[in-house]
Amino acid sequence: MHPGTMQSNFAHFCHLLLERSGLVLDEDKHYLVDTRLSHIAEHHGFASVDALLSKLQTGPVESLVTECVEALATHESSFFRDTLPFTQLANVILPKIIEHKSISKSLRIWSAACSTGQEPYSIAMTLQEHIDKLQGWHIEIIATDMVAKAVEQAQSGFYTDFEIGRGLKPEQLHRWFHKTEGGYLIDPSLRRMMHFHTYNLLAPPTVRGPFDIIFCRNVLIYFNRDKKIEILKRLGSLLGREGLLILGSAETVIGLCDTFEPLDGHHGLFRLKA
Ligand SMILES: C[S@@+](CC[C@H](N)C(=O)[O-])C[C@H]1O[C@@H](n2cnc3c(N)ncnc32)[C@H](O)[C@@H]1O
Repeated sequence: MHPGTMQSNFAHFCHLLLERSGLVLDEDKHYLVDTRLSHIAEHHGFASVDALLSKLQTGPVESLVTECVEALATHESSFFRDTLPFTQLANVILPKIIEHKSISKSLRIWSAACSTGQEPYSIAMTLQEHIDKLQGWHIEIIATDMVAKAVEQAQSGFYTDFEIGRGLKPEQLHRWFHKTEGGYLIDPSLRRMMHFHTYNLLAPPTVRGPFDIIFCRNVLIYFNRDKKIEILKRLGSLLGREGLLILGSAETVIGLCDTFEPLDGHHGLFRLKA
């Protein structure tokens, strides 16, 4: 294929990816597209990844577009990833919520890019460790991701030995997981606390606010400035007045929008501006 045509196919795919998912691909990421899309090209009988990209440009089929866009998402996750957000949840956030919601006794948490579920299950395990203080509370954990396959795995609660080996203490493994063929299954009591949906952060909300806590970690890093701002505003509209937004360790709201401000002394925690 002519190099100019290949370049145009690649540029079109970058644009499509940005519009559909917010993910930004740099000009030098041809190798990433090749690696992630080669099995899709093969599966659908295209002679090459470029032939697949050409199809996406000239006569796209919706299901193929979705498959290709989803293949570019990175699902890297682990239980209790970065540790700090979960100690903050236990030691800073829960005590505040238990105090100011002592009448309504309702706690709503959203894991807004939950990948394969390690984040929401880590939230659930953290809550369970403090369940004596939450007796009689109505607790909801909503977990969403743009990629249906990731949400399906999260919902199944099945993890391979490798996934289980990342982030869990032996006592957590023992208490919350059951050995099964090829891996482990999460305890049904944790799964029952959870509602899973597919949801693209760029779309009008299909989840209902207000939330007390929104975890939106390690996803904004993949977006450009405009998409970050768009998503932060949307998250702000779904957060309760006293609610907290938790971002990834390399993410911030600073310099992006004035919906949120950092919570003094607590890295990664943000509240709505008064
Ligand atoms: C690197 S994982 C982070 C998972 C988890 N939050 C953590 O910190 O371990 C990023 C996730 O964001 C999801 N994602 C990417 N773009 C998205 C979008 N526009 N809407 C919703 N989820 C998206 C990906 O599918 C992926 O599962």
